[in-house]
Amino acid sequence: MSTIVAPSLLSANFLNLEKDIEMLNRSEADWIHLDIMDGVFVPNISFGFPVTNLLKKITKKTLDTHLMIVQPEKFINEVKETGSTYMNVHYEATIHLHRVVQEIKNHGMKPAVTLNPHTPVSFLDDIISDLDMVLLMSVNPGYGGQKFITNTLKKVSQLKELILQRNSTALIEVDGGVNLETGKMLVDAGADVLVAGSFIFSSENPEELIKELKAL
Ligand code: DX5
Ligand code: ZN
Repeated sequence: MSTIVAPSLLSANFLNLEKDIEMLNRSEADWIHLDIMDGVFVPNISFGFPVTNLLKKITKKTLDTHLMIVQPEKFINEVKETGSTYMNVHYEATIHLHRVVQEIKNHGMKPAVTLNPHTPVSFLDDIISDLDMVLLMSVNPGYGGQKFITNTLKKVSQLKELILQRNSTALIEVDGGVNLETGKMLVDAGADVLVAGSFIFSSENPEELIKELKAL
């Protein structure tokens, strides 16, 4: 299976989102990663549902929503409305994670749990069998363009081991500071999905970079 590439719209040109979505539609990108922030769970605010609801009209790519908000359980209906296939909730942002994961499934979406850089992979022991994906943050969430935290490579290997032990089918996604160099190390360690924002959108030729990330 080639690497799944999920460009993060956070680094797109918000004054001309349609143009960037058209570029992604033409590209080999598999998914589009949508970063929703609340200014509480993370020290920044991005875009919300009025924006993401418009995107499904202009793209056929799989939507992967990453909620960097407290109490993500309050917004399951809203995420469903965006047409998202994956709903990522942070381990650190909800008390009743098991309940939220079941609710996401009941709404016909695939549940994914996101871990901040300091949260150990072992905390997923009792939930991994219920998940379609785990998202490992390789930067502290809230901003694009940050430096990759290399400890993530160890976490990818640990997660791969846990997934194999439990016969889980969960994908391993990594988000933050991904470029061709860090992306290669991540794929070698066992990552299935690479999220990349600034690396793709700051390029003169984003379609080519997407192609290169896919080939890692
Ligand atoms: C950060 C977001 C990321 C962000 C990644 O909190 O979750 O998805 O867009 O940006 P880069 O790829 O620039 O690190
Ligand atoms: Zn993200």
